[in-house]
Amino acid sequence: SPSHSYVIAVLPGDGIGIEVMPPALRCLEAAAKVFGFHLEWRHYPWASCTYYHQHGKMLPDNWKPLLQACDAIYFGAVGDPATVPDHISLWGSLLLFRREFDQYINLRPCRLISGVTSPLANRDGKHIDFVTVRENTEGEYSSIGGRIFEGTDRETVIQNTVFTRIGVDRVIRYAFELARSRPAKKLTSATKSNGISITMPYWDERVEVIGKEYPDVKVEKYHIDILCAHFVQRPHIFDVVVGSNLFGDILSDLGPACTGTIGIAPSANLNPSATRGESGDTWMPSLFEPVHGSAPDIAGKGIANPVGMIWAGQMMLEHLGEKDAANAVMGAIERVLKVSRSAQLRGESDILTPDMHGKGTTEGLGRAIEEEILKSS
Ligand code: NAI
Ligand code: MG
Repeated sequence: SPSHSYVIAVLPGDGIGIEVMPPALRCLEAAAKVFGFHLEWRHYPWASCTYYHQHGKMLPDNWKPLLQACDAIYFGAVGDPATVPDHISLWGSLLLFRREFDQYINLRPCRLISGVTSPLANRDGKHIDFVTVRENTEGEYSSIGGRIFEGTDRETVIQNTVFTRIGVDRVIRYAFELARSRPAKKLTSATKSNGISITMPYWDERVEVIGKEYPDVKVEKYHIDILCAHFVQRPHIFDVVVGSNLFGDILSDLGPACTGTIGIAPSANLNPSATRGESGDTWMPSLFEPVHGSAPDIAGKGIANPVGMIWAGQMMLEHLGEKDAANAVMGAIERVLKVSRSAQLRGESDILTPDMHGKGTTEGLGRAIEEEILKSS
């Protein structure tokens, strides 16, 4: 019988979130079967605009204890901009989870997978394989500030950046630990200390201080403007890239964009300090989601790429400590994309979804990855 069992909150959300979730759950179940652990899904229809239409709110009142009863949260995508304003749907669900569970790390692998075409010319997997680490709770996204003399010619608007020692140190330390665990052992810090002359020199100072604890990790820093240029022109120089909330936000979209389609990109919102021993109202579960949104333009057509959702599940398995299963899922994604691309080029069966220039479906690509996982052991 399975040695480990995990309780997972399943929140598919809206649009293609509802379509990519079932194949992703089947892939993770396949991994659980092969590697001998059990996944208990708790399916919840809330954190969706459908729920909002029925109840006038995004979440039930007891959402917090319901999620705290789970080891992790598996999230599809939320948003139906035609009927519910995005600030209501996102702030009323995902952004609330990030804040309430202090998910202070936003982690996004950027890897060009063989078989997926990059918008950058002449690149393959060896050229792009890095992770962005974004501070997810403070920094430039603070609510400190306001407007004064509104509507007069003295109208003044101020919003302050907030860098706390705790907030800055924990994200930088996490990034150093991650860099240490990877073969290249290299950390790149995003800064702008030439222009933002108070907070960014502080950020640089903390990188330097904490870096002394990691003599085995090579450290580089770039101002955010040239760093963006390097993402496009020299993506091979990066391993782990750490940035404040704003810089990390920008980089964590630019990175996946360089690796082909947004449809394959995963994301983890982590609270690495929460310990499994905690329970009740103190446990703070982490959340795993694809980078993409609900994609109303293709919702209902059955052609959404399920890889971002599956890869996010792979990150969840790794987070839960099921490393072998996580590796198997990643290997299956890589093999299926590579083989499918070859078949596509030969003009044979084409199971790649349209965002990868194919004629495939969510169901077909999901099944292929599930079958590939079942072959591993
Ligand atoms: P989006 O990511 O939903 O779509 C952007 C474009 O990428 C569309 O053309 C879409 O068809 C395509 N795309 C996205 N995922 C795909 C996939 N798996 N396979 C194939 N093509 C895919 O972003 P958009 O259109 O700006 O936002 C739509 C809604 O989603 C909005 O309500 C927005 O607020 C919400 N959203 C939610 C997020 C979340 O739940 N974390 C993240 C981003 C947006
Ligand atoms: Mg963003």
